[in-house]
Amino acid sequence: MRTPIIAGNWKMNNTMEEGLKLVADIKSQDLNKNVEAVLCVPFTDIKSVKEAIKGTNIKVGAQNMHWEESGAYTGEISPIMLKELEVDYVILGHSERRQYFNETDETVNKKMKSALAHNIKPIICVGETLEERESSKEKEVVKNQIIKGFQDIDEKHVEDIVIAYEPIWAIGTGKTASADDANDMIAFIREIIGQLYGDLKDVIRIQYGGSVKPENVAELMNKSDIDGALVGGASLKADDFVKLINY
Ligand code: PGA
Repeated sequence: MRTPIIAGNWKMNNTMEEGLKLVADIKSQDLNKNVEAVLCVPFTDIKSVKEAIKGTNIKVGAQNMHWEESGAYTGEISPIMLKELEVDYVILGHSERRQYFNETDETVNKKMKSALAHNIKPIICVGETLEERESSKEKEVVKNQIIKGFQDIDEKHVEDIVIAYEPIWAIGTGKTASADDANDMIAFIREIIGQLYGDLKDVIRIQYGGSVKPENVAELMNKSDIDGALVGGASLKADDFVKLINY
């Protein structure tokens, strides 16, 4: 049985003060304990959010990380810095990082190995562009991202990895992939994991991301292969995010 995982991706939103207000509003409501709730917050919010969620089951994630532990990498944050703040998860290879900051499958793979070596659970993002979908290349693209992202990742780590399938054309656009299309791709990703890791395909959790909101979350979550959601916009409003956790 895979535990459902709903992760909010705040992106570059919420100052410390705003973040604390949002967490207080989330905490004041009843949350389904059978769902793992994660807040992936800006680096500057990690410490205060971690403090604010004490006593709840909510986990905290970062949105990126360098693979080296330290060194001359101006502006970067290392796994030991995140670990010191007791970060549970880190989003890796989000399409915005791939698009605006030149992340590649190779850097995502290095980051994934480093995160796992430091006991931080990666949420690795994959997904196709609209152009790739319109030319029926979406499965080939996603398969490639998975195979390269998982290169030389030992099977003992697979249960700690979360995959987020996020079709780029559905992110922040209000266009959601239909629940059937999302499930179809996620089942396909599970098959690829099966080719790489056998039965562990039934253990790994795979989320859908892209305009998930209270109105569509139940339909997505009721599909056979969808284990959770990675949520941008709707994670910035306490009531909406709580509705997602309590789908
Ligand atoms: P969205 O973002 O929910 O605002 O579409 C999802 C994401 O980018 O993770």
